[in-house]
Amino acid sequence: MGALKTRDGFTTGLGVLAATLGSAVGLGNIWKFPYLTGENGGAAFILVYIISTLLVGLPVMISEQMLGRRARANAIGTLQKLAPKRQPWWLIGVAGCLAAFLIMAFYTEVAGWVFAYIFKSLTGTILSTDPASTSAEFADMTGSPAQSLIWQWIVLIMIALIAIMGVSKGIERTTKRLMPILFVLLIIVCVRSLTLDGAGEGLDFLLEPDFSKLTGEVVLVAMGLAFFKLSIGMGTMITYGSYFRDDQNIPTTAAKVMLADLTISLLAGIAIFPAVFAFDFNADAGPSLLFITIPAVFASMPLGEIFIVLFFVLTAIAATGAMLSLLEVPIAVLDELTGLSRTSATVITIGLLALVGAPAALSSSTLADFTIADKTMFDLYDYATSNVLLPVGGFFLSVFVGWVWGFDQVKRALSNSGALRNERIIQAFFGTVKFVTPVLVLLVLLDGLNVI
Ligand code: PHE
Repeated sequence: MGALKTRDGFTTGLGVLAATLGSAVGLGNIWKFPYLTGENGGAAFILVYIISTLLVGLPVMISEQMLGRRARANAIGTLQKLAPKRQPWWLIGVAGCLAAFLIMAFYTEVAGWVFAYIFKSLTGTILSTDPASTSAEFADMTGSPAQSLIWQWIVLIMIALIAIMGVSKGIERTTKRLMPILFVLLIIVCVRSLTLDGAGEGLDFLLEPDFSKLTGEVVLVAMGLAFFKLSIGMGTMITYGSYFRDDQNIPTTAAKVMLADLTISLLAGIAIFPAVFAFDFNADAGPSLLFITIPAVFASMPLGEIFIVLFFVLTAIAATGAMLSLLEVPIAVLDELTGLSRTSATVITIGLLALVGAPAALSSSTLADFTIADKTMFDLYDYATSNVLLPVGGFFLSVFVGWVWGFDQVKRALSNSGALRNERIIQAFFGTVKFVTPVLVLLVLLDGLNVI
């Protein structure tokens, strides 16, 4: 059955960019990047993050899209098709599916809070200049098992409805409409933040590095963020690459997505930190920065009640494109390996996600005291994916491309069988993915996990 169906895919170059950027841009930019930057010393952390993006992120993204397009299959099927017989490289795809579930489990919960906060900012309940009261409001929501689960389910159902419509009619069409809106809203919020009195201190924080905070663990967190941000190391970009057109220029596409994603992260930093410092709030609030500090910051500024709605709407948009791509990994696997229809594959995936997601959703209420290695399930899912599963996946992918697949195949795939004159770029890519990326990932991973 599966083999006879014609494969859906992205229809235009612009559609490829919108969907791929839609995957990369997400809570990673608006929630994680700012709070991790705030926690880990600002500019120095950003610098390590940018280096990881260039030397690890970009090569792995190009690798994944290239393999996916060559095989035109899901994350597991791609490696089964391209690897030599009897070598278990497809396990990367299996680990990727696991990662997709674990990320979705906590991601849908944070996305649920974001959707809840759109309503709460419309009604004004979260607007208070006193962090004690915004903190109580947040605790009220996350402390309620019913609210936590319901918001997560609302998000799951919404994403499922878009996914069921298919790759071109669901994912491509939605992201093409939403990405420009996100960008415009973000610029508006940035202008507001930058024009506040005292905005300069926040900018200094983003631009002046303090290297004293950099430890092995912090470097691993910055690299893990690069993986998470670019949706790599787990087969998302393999799956999306399998929907690319034959004439898509992969190195250029990946470079554009990486640059646009970085720009949006920096803009999110500019939207948040100048305002945080202008009103004397703490930058190092951690994961709750967005939900406790930000409402208080906006409540302190003129017209804040309008800007906060825009802010949460843009965050919800960002999360949507990313969740569609996370969901696509297991959907494509189920659809193609079992021959199930797309609708059944989606329904099964969403059902499983409601199960795996519940422990993350209940991490601040019923299961608040249930910890493994000192982490709640929410934190554990997050840590295990960004800092372990994705880098390990990225390591094996770069080894596969550099040492197993080899230069000739890479050259044919990235030059679109000779149609593109990009020999130099291919050589630079190949040298990096073979010698630099795997070594860096391995060193940072072993050091960050205190193995060496
Ligand atoms: N890149 C997304 C973000 O920044 C998250 C994501 C990770 C999406 C892995 C797909 C795969 O929010």
